[in-house]
Amino acid sequence: MIDRRNFLAGTGVLVSAGVLPGLAVAKAGAQEFDLIAGPVQQALYEQQPSDLWAYNDIVPGPEIRVRKGERIRVNFRNNLEEPTSIHWHGIRIENAMDGVSGLTQEPVQPGDSFVYEFELPDSGTYWYHAHNKSWNEVGRGLYGPLIVEERTSTFDRDHDITLIIDDWRLRQPGVLDTDSFGSLMDWSHGGRLGNWLLVNGKSRPVLKLRSGDAYRLRLINASNARVLELDPNRFGGKVIAYDGQALPESVVLPYSPHLLGPAQRIDLMVVPDADFTIEEISGDKPFPLVDGIVDGISRTAQSTPSIPVNLIPEPDVTGARKVKVVMEGGAMGGFVNITYKGKRLEGEDFRKTGQSWAFNGIANLAEAPLFTVRRGETVLLETINQTGWVHAMHVHGHHFRVLSRSGADVDNGKPWRDTFLIGPEQTTEVAFVADNPGKWLYHCHMLEHAAAGMTTWFEIS
Ligand code: C2O
Ligand code: CU
Repeated sequence: MIDRRNFLAGTGVLVSAGVLPGLAVAKAGAQEFDLIAGPVQQALYEQQPSDLWAYNDIVPGPEIRVRKGERIRVNFRNNLEEPTSIHWHGIRIENAMDGVSGLTQEPVQPGDSFVYEFELPDSGTYWYHAHNKSWNEVGRGLYGPLIVEERTSTFDRDHDITLIIDDWRLRQPGVLDTDSFGSLMDWSHGGRLGNWLLVNGKSRPVLKLRSGDAYRLRLINASNARVLELDPNRFGGKVIAYDGQALPESVVLPYSPHLLGPAQRIDLMVVPDADFTIEEISGDKPFPLVDGIVDGISRTAQSTPSIPVNLIPEPDVTGARKVKVVMEGGAMGGFVNITYKGKRLEGEDFRKTGQSWAFNGIANLAEAPLFTVRRGETVLLETINQTGWVHAMHVHGHHFRVLSRSGADVDNGKPWRDTFLIGPEQTTEVAFVADNPGKWLYHCHMLEHAAAGMTTWFEIS
């Protein structure tokens, strides 16, 4: 678990503005951006430089902020020594731009370029990240926020704050532990868990807020594998969106705290009247993430704005195409039969291939898709977790409604999500309209699990 006390003495508190630098548009008047992936040295702990990989020399990568309905063009260049590609997580994107190496595009080779050009159909909080050997590339820093504002911004820039959280594994004297990338122990257990949480690349950044003003905090979990536990009740936060999609005003969330799995986002509205701290509370002692310091009082008697919902095609489960995915494997999962690249694994194969998880008995991408549907069909996807671990399941290219968990209705309005958490022995049903043609991934966003077998794909024709 996170052990802030034992890891290193001192708190490493940096007082800094919490606002991320934005990305300058490459051409005046056009929504065109340049992103370059390459190695960089950046401190994760005090002044100790770590060897990271970054977009535009900074981790997290620059915030791309655009408006709903706009098209953007991203001129990408790979200055790494290994191939890569960029995935735009949560965007209902055209398939050729989804950025999945080996499925929707060839990986971009060292020194090569690729142009991503696509439309942003929905407002909300999204992120972009590498999608080739993600366990390694994302784990070293290749990710950044992608914020799509409403057609008319609901919160102005001063009241709209992105907080992208990452879980880093540091070794003495406070540098990124690079030797343990690819550890099969992590792959077959809970993934690569760290011991140091940073927000916007900083330790415990400070937000200076005005008392009585309404703020939107956009939280993004960029961790390889850590599920963050947050309790908005402790600081008066109200959940207003999940995975980019605004919750209708009528939805009252009956529970707290909240779990924020890898790749998930949660938008909170906070109207501070006193200083507060947002903490990660899964450990035996809360780990402070961000401090909100109230200085100055509200200039305007602000109302609490509500954000408009996006229009996503509503699944109708009568006559839906039913798909069942049984998740198996991992440590403590007992022996399971796993087929990988058409071959049943035995003995040493598990160690050699690193595969230890399977969906319906198959590890990683098979030649044939898990299922094929016609455009416009509704898919009812039932996922049964027979492993001893929690997972964060992500569907590419679509948002789905979470219908039920282990037979029980989801009582908070069947929210739209693009990633859902599923605990051991749980069954979760989600449904979506397969309206986006192409080849799409369905995988665990614990990036080690994805690499070790928990990845499949489906096709919409
Ligand atoms: Cu956020 Cu397949 O990824
Ligand atoms: Cu998993």
